[in-house]
Amino acid sequence: MTTALLWFSGTGNSLATAQFLQKNLSGKTELFRIPLDDSFVMTEYEKIIFVFPVYAWGYPRIVGKLIESLKLPHNPFTAAVVTYGGGAGNTLEFTKKKFEKSGLHLDAGFQIHLPENYPPFGGAPKAEKIKELLDSAPDSLKEIALKIDKKEKEFPKVGWFSSLFGPLAYWFFAEMGLPRAGKKFSVNDACTSCGICYQICPVDNIKMEAGRPTFGSKCEQCFGCFHWCPVSAIQYGKTEKQTRYHHPDVKLSSFIRRKNHSL
Ligand SMILES: Cc1cc2nc3c(=O)[nH]c(=O)nc-3n(C[C@H](O)[C@H](O)[C@H](O)COP(=O)(O)O)c2cc1C
Ligand code: SF4
Ligand code: SF4
Repeated sequence: MTTALLWFSGTGNSLATAQFLQKNLSGKTELFRIPLDDSFVMTEYEKIIFVFPVYAWGYPRIVGKLIESLKLPHNPFTAAVVTYGGGAGNTLEFTKKKFEKSGLHLDAGFQIHLPENYPPFGGAPKAEKIKELLDSAPDSLKEIALKIDKKEKEFPKVGWFSSLFGPLAYWFFAEMGLPRAGKKFSVNDACTSCGICYQICPVDNIKMEAGRPTFGSKCEQCFGCFHWCPVSAIQYGKTEKQTRYHHPDVKLSSFIRRKNHSL
């Protein structure tokens, strides 16, 4: 009766969602961060729930790679819970198709509206809007937890527009946006060389050179580095005036993957 919650998150909305589900689902639950390590043995789980942010009406590339590599011979109940900042479009339909193309099945999909974190679209909203979204999330999440407990096979309805154009938007993101993402970062003189950005990057895309981060070509655009920098030194274009955000219920320590560069 154990449920695995596999999470990917840049600014904590999806991690806080996974943590909330962990507290509210019945039976034993375990959290695993994507990319997974050897501690995750998939055949041990009766339910596997994928929790991740919507990127361009699709999934983070790293989640797509995980789906491609999964083998689920014991046929668990699978669900995706996605967090989004403006509109989830056809994300869950698109994710379901990805599972099917990979020889798997996705039984259910749920979406939850939380604060936006994408700098090119203006980044995080104003404090009142953040509060409104955070306050309304728990009721929706409790309903989602009940449905997962009952293994309800449910997906949201998708409008024709996002069904038609969503895959194109995702293609632009994956093929044009992601390969160029690393080049758009810059770091200003506020940087204290603390190394937090280096430590949290989920794909080791950041190197510290002469005390400053440099960005490689493997960026997933999670914007964890951008939002968690304690002095807002990381920019993505003209973003000096943008608010930095992370979900208040998550800790920086949950995102640390590497020891500090100076150790
Ligand atoms: C690269 C990127 C693309 C995004 N695309 C969308 C989108 O298509 N629709 C949407 O509603 N939100 C979009 N967002 C916002 C995130 O889905 C949203 O803020 C999410 O809750 C962030 O989750 P996290 O805190 O777990 O990283 C995007 C964010 C990023 C970084
Ligand atoms: S997190 Fe910010 S201050 Fe720390 S090293 Fe990175 S850019 Fe510099
Ligand atoms: S470089 Fe920054 S935005 Fe890109 S994957 Fe690493 S932490 Fe995320």
